[in-house]
Parts: sequence; C-alpha cells; structure tokens
Amino acid sequence: MLRKNIKLKVVFTVLLTALFYLQSAAQQGWDVPADKKVKNSYIKFDAASAKEGEAIYTKNCLSCHGNPTKDNSMKSLKPVPPDLSGAKTQQLTDGELFYILNTGRGLMPSFSNVLSESDRWKTIAYMRSFNSSYVQVLSKTDPTKSKLVKINMDYDSLKSVVRVHVTAAEKNGVVVLKNAEVTLFAARYFGRLQVDKTMRTDNNGMATFGFNKTLPGDKQGYVNMIVKVNDDNYGEIESQSKLKIGVPTDKPSLTEKRAIWNVLAKAPIWLIVLYTTGVLVFGAFLLFILYSLFRIKKSGKN
Ligand code: HEC
Repeated sequence: MLRKNIKLKVVFTVLLTALFYLQSAAQQGWDVPADKKVKNSYIKFDAASAKEGEAIYTKNCLSCHGNPTKDNSMKSLKPVPPDLSGAKTQQLTDGELFYILNTGRGLMPSFSNVLSESDRWKTIAYMRSFNSSYVQVLSKTDPTKSKLVKINMDYDSLKSVVRVHVTAAEKNGVVVLKNAEVTLFAARYFGRLQVDKTMRTDNNGMATFGFNKTLPGDKQGYVNMIVKVNDDNYGEIESQSKLKIGVPTDKPSLTEKRAIWNVLAKAPIWLIVLYTTGVLVFGAFLLFILYSLFRIKKSGKN
C-alpha cells in the first residue's frame, strides 16, 4: 500500500515537472507577425542614439533587465528578464524587438504609450551597441514626413461607427494613406482605453471602428478620442479630437470633491480634524513637559 503511494507520488511529480517545462518552453518564443518582423528603424543606430537610448533604458528598463553584459537582472521575476545584450535577444530582428517593446507580455510592460517611437528605437540602438557583429538596415520612413499627415475623424450615429480618414498633403497634391495601421483610443482619467481592434486603412485611406455606445462622456457627451496611425512611409502620427459619442455623464472631476489628493482647502474633513487634533495634542503635551520641568526646577530651589 505504502509503496503504491510512493509510486503514485513519483509519477505525479514527474508529470507536473514535465507540464511546468512545457508551459515555460511555450512562453519562450515571441510570436511576431511577419510584417512586424521586417520593420526597421528610421533612427540610425550610432554612438549618439545609443547614448540617448542608454538614458531611456536606465529610467525604464534597468530595474528589471539590469546592466547589459553584467548578468544582474531581477532574478526573482518569472520568467527572469533576460540580459538584453545576450545572444538569444540579439538574434531577434529590430522589428521583433520593437514589437516586444510595443506589446509587452506578462511582467514585460507595453511601452507603446509610454515612450515615443523614436525613444523606443533608441533603446534598441543601445541594446545593439553591445553586439559587434550587428549591421543595421535603415528604414525608408522619413520622420519629417509625419508632419504632412492629416487625420480626420467622424462619427456615424446611424451605424454607430467612428470613421478615421488618413491623408497626406504632398507637394503634388493630397494622397490617401493606404494600408496604414490605425488604433483608436478614448482618453480616460488614467491612461487610454482602446476602442475596437487595430485596423488598417482601405484603398480610400479609411478605417472604420465599431463603437460601444455606453462609454461615459462629459456633461454634453463629448469623449476625447485619440487616433494613432502607423505608416511605413510616414512613421507614427497621433491626433486628438473631441467627438460627441459618449453618454452624457455629470460626474464631478477628480479635483472637484474633497479628496486626499486635493489641495488643502479641499482636503477631506476627517483628515483636517485628525491633523489638527494631532497638532493640538502634541502642542499640549510639549506645554505639559515644559510646565513639569519648570515645577521640578522650582521644587529644587525650595
Ligand atoms: C517590470 C519589469 C520589466 C521592465 C521594466 C522591462 N522589462 Fe523587458 N522583460 C521583462 C520580462 C519579465 C521579460 C521576459 C518576458 C517573457 O519572456 O515572457 C522581458 C523581455 C524583454 C525582451 C525580450 C527578450 C528576449 O530575448 O526574449 C526585450 C527585448 C525587453 N524585455 C526589452 C525591454 C526594454 C527595452 C525595456 C525598457 C524600455 C524593458 N524591457 C522593461 C521585464 C521587464
């Protein structure tokens, strides 16, 4: 009976270990879409951009990944954040690294709304500076062209969709941006909420987003919308506009009511009372000590 139990335990342990390894093995590769894999940087990876990248890295990545080549990443995390100068990371394409930075996974945060596109490329410039055999392929994107791009947004209340139209004012006339990646967000108190999935513009430069009608807006129902366009030739462009597509909500702003994060005049009553009582009690206690000292001195004289 006892033996059978031990056998069972062994089988169980082996099975669990196998499962664990299978699961972590499945997590290892990055499944990057083919078109993202071949994306290249329009920022030249040289000493200057690597140096700027180092500053961005120190602020945003060092705490987890450690100093490249020093093997001092945060070992308590699972999976352990790799040393980004290592061979496993360096064999990834620039496009794959960029994709990983954009999307994140598990404990690896997404940086697409935290760092600008050029800052994201500069951290990659820094990672590549540890790889002597790396040769860069520069992208044909001209970042100065992003200024030519115009983004129009409108709301079709009948179909309850938001249409985004992307054009560029080139010297020889207005052109539409075809097959550009478009993502729509609604601005919230903290951060942004993506609306529908990321789309690609059609042959007319148009992308259409389904819209959830229950999104709360301001008093008049306006919602601050943000469009992010990513195009191979024009780069990354962002634009904001207010659309009257939300449910009118009379929600007080975060600083309208008494709250601990507000200014003194709008601090919560309990906090003011607690603080004042604290100061008064402490003051009275000090006075009591002074008085006692005075009495001790006086009785000493007697
Ligand atoms: C909160 C901790 C944390 C921060 C901050 C962080 N990362 Fe990561 N990163 C991770 C973890 C954990 C992984 C492994 C994720 C996985 O494999 O599922 C990872 C994976 C990666 C990978 C993939 C490496 C490979 O070989 O698979 C890259 C590239 C990367 N991070 C770059 C960065 C950059 C650049 C920054 C800063 C802009 C950054 N990370 C910030 C935790 C972090």
